[in-house]
Amino acid sequence: MIGNDRKIEKNLDSSMIGLRPGLEGVPVAQSSICDIDGLQGKLTYRGYPISELALQSSFLETTYLLIWGDLPSPSQLRDFEKEVQMHRRISFRVRDMMKCFPASGHPMDALQSSAASLGLFYSRRAIDDPKYVYDAVVRLIAKIPTMVAAFQLIRKGQDPIQPRDDLAYSANFLYMLTEREPDPLAARIFDRCLILHAEHSLNASTFSARVTASTLTDPYAVVASAVGTLAGPLHGGANEDVIKMLEKIGKPEHAITYLNDAISNKRKVMGFGHREYRVKDPRASILQDLAEELFARFGKDEMYDVAKALEKAAEHKLGSKGIYPNVDFYSGLVYRKLGIPRDLYTPVFAISRVAGWLAHWREQLGANRIFRPSQIYTGIQNRQWIPAEERSSAKSF
Ligand code: ACO
Repeated sequence: MIGNDRKIEKNLDSSMIGLRPGLEGVPVAQSSICDIDGLQGKLTYRGYPISELALQSSFLETTYLLIWGDLPSPSQLRDFEKEVQMHRRISFRVRDMMKCFPASGHPMDALQSSAASLGLFYSRRAIDDPKYVYDAVVRLIAKIPTMVAAFQLIRKGQDPIQPRDDLAYSANFLYMLTEREPDPLAARIFDRCLILHAEHSLNASTFSARVTASTLTDPYAVVASAVGTLAGPLHGGANEDVIKMLEKIGKPEHAITYLNDAISNKRKVMGFGHREYRVKDPRASILQDLAEELFARFGKDEMYDVAKALEKAAEHKLGSKGIYPNVDFYSGLVYRKLGIPRDLYTPVFAISRVAGWLAHWREQLGANRIFRPSQIYTGIQNRQWIPAEERSSAKSF
């Protein structure tokens, strides 16, 4: 068969597959990074159950596992931790650039711009070179938290503070953000949150990362495009909206009325529902335990009772459709107790998810073919050009 005929045949095949809005149920990659059993509520990273990793591992160890496929030996982990620690600082040029960002801008937009700017500073694109890949991973894992913390201080009119070498990854982030050395329990719980958010197969932002990776661009562009995708309220941005929603409900006894109103007006209840899970997201259960651990130590958050009342009410109303709390439902309550401002919840999610995005970047490069799906054209064909003076008034937009 000659090339052109083969192409035409392929196109016919793809149009026969039919449109699947949101690509639901359409495999677009083979992956050995993460597995989800949405009916049983099970999640594994490289074969390890998420509950075990959240209990036993650290975020950097989990990052190593996700990106390189196996748990590191003690010396590999020490080296990785040391490298990340050495690259936490960001250039004064990046800081100066961030000072020009509007203070009223959303921190996810600031993060997307600053992550993309790393491509300007480390512009050698050598994605076939394992040393380049390792260095890029280290830089992104190390610098993203520093950028998130820097924007927080800059928008308050302060200078960012430098990372502290004596503090581990999560403790250092909380220190750079709040300017106080965190309580060890708070730092450990935050680290566990990072483990829980690090990877979740082909969600929207990871798909976005893989599409960008498939063009063979640099890893900074891969991460920047994924950050932009994570920002939306149907994806990572939901954690911020959950707290707004809980505050709007105000009291546990108002949860049912809120829920009924949302359902009858076809409004989504934020923090509920997931394309993959038909039961409660296993990460939501662990985050709920973490929230309780924090409340036991540092005092309760009254919004927790509202959240529990909403979950209970929703079980009756939405459970039959397989709609249960997702990862975003309890994470905001944990971050709030840790003193993290609300509009930083999604950037904090990004700090963690960069591990998963980079694992998928490497995997995509290992068997790359550029993503180029087809479409079903529904527009008009064969129109005739109309000179400007003969056109009737344009449609209003
Ligand atoms: N509240 C009320 N109803 C819901 C919800 C919800 N949170 N989620 C889904 N439904 C209903 C829809 O109204 C729809 O009902 P219908 O068939 O009667 O019309 C049905 O369930 C299917 O909903 P879709 O939006 O088509 O499901 P999809 O798989 O496309 O969306 C999503 C999944 C985007 C997560 C959705 O559940 C949602 O919008 N949830 C709220 C936002 C949220 O919490 N996002 C964070 C997800 S986790 C993450 O990305 C990190």
